[in-house]
Amino acid sequence: MAGIIAVANQKGGVGKTATTANLGTALSRLGHRILIVDMDPQGNLTASFGVQDRVEQTVADALLDRKIDLPVVPVRNGLDGCLDLVPANATLAACESSLANKLGREFRLRDVLQSCGDRYRIVLIDTPPSLGLLTVNSLVAASRVIVPTEARFFSLQGLQGLEETITEVQYLNPTLKIMGIILSKLDRRLREEQTVANYLREHWGELIFSTEIGTNSKILEAASSGVAVNDVPGGGKAAELYAELAREVLARG
Ligand SMILES: Nc1ncnc2c1ncn2[C@@H]1O[C@H](COP(=O)(O)OP(=O)(O)OP(=O)(O)O)[C@@H](O)[C@H]1O
Ligand SMILES: [Mg+2]
Repeated sequence: MAGIIAVANQKGGVGKTATTANLGTALSRLGHRILIVDMDPQGNLTASFGVQDRVEQTVADALLDRKIDLPVVPVRNGLDGCLDLVPANATLAACESSLANKLGREFRLRDVLQSCGDRYRIVLIDTPPSLGLLTVNSLVAASRVIVPTEARFFSLQGLQGLEETITEVQYLNPTLKIMGIILSKLDRRLREEQTVANYLREHWGELIFSTEIGTNSKILEAASSGVAVNDVPGGGKAAELYAELAREVLARG
């Protein structure tokens, strides 16, 4: 079975989707077969690979109907056939409320991943900025969590909230653990960010990945134009940082 990692933080805009997209790309470029799953009704992960217009079925279809397999779309990343995406769009919002009445509602993603997870070395799940049923499904399916965070004072509250949720979810999924926290949009020029980054390293120690992803306009540019950061002129430095993060993730198993 693949290592299943949820990328989660209920705080919005902290870099969950950018981390999932670029880490997934970096891992696949290291030669691993990787699946990335969009569990956010915003569909940002799907859009960041530019495939939103050629999607027929989405993750919502498989979550609602046990007879439907997870729809998997191959996405380009420079190495054919190594990176696959399970897309989502706005229909996932309605799916979340329909799921609430289904039997085994917290286990639906775990169950559908069982049929295809074996084909991949790692499955990365991008979650929405909330602690609702879609995030809970992602945390129940996963064995590890990667937490992207900004180094801002208000981010600390978000981390505490997520820790509480993980403790709750452990009743359903006792093996769930935080793999690491990634400073995913760090601007060390700002004093607040320096202070909070240092505090996080003191407080969480080894759980903070050594790699830090600085704010970099190429990451934003890549996501909004639906291409990998490697393919944006000048995006090499950011791509190298995600490759470094990918090596850390593989080392943490
Ligand atoms: N290191 C970075 N440097 C510059 N821009 C970044 C960086 N990481 C992410 N961004 C941009 O910041 C915005 C928010 O990032 P992203 O969408 O990854 O966050 P998110 O946590 O997934 O948001 P949401 O909670 O809405 O799902 C996006 O426009 C993204 O392209
Ligand atoms: Mg997102």
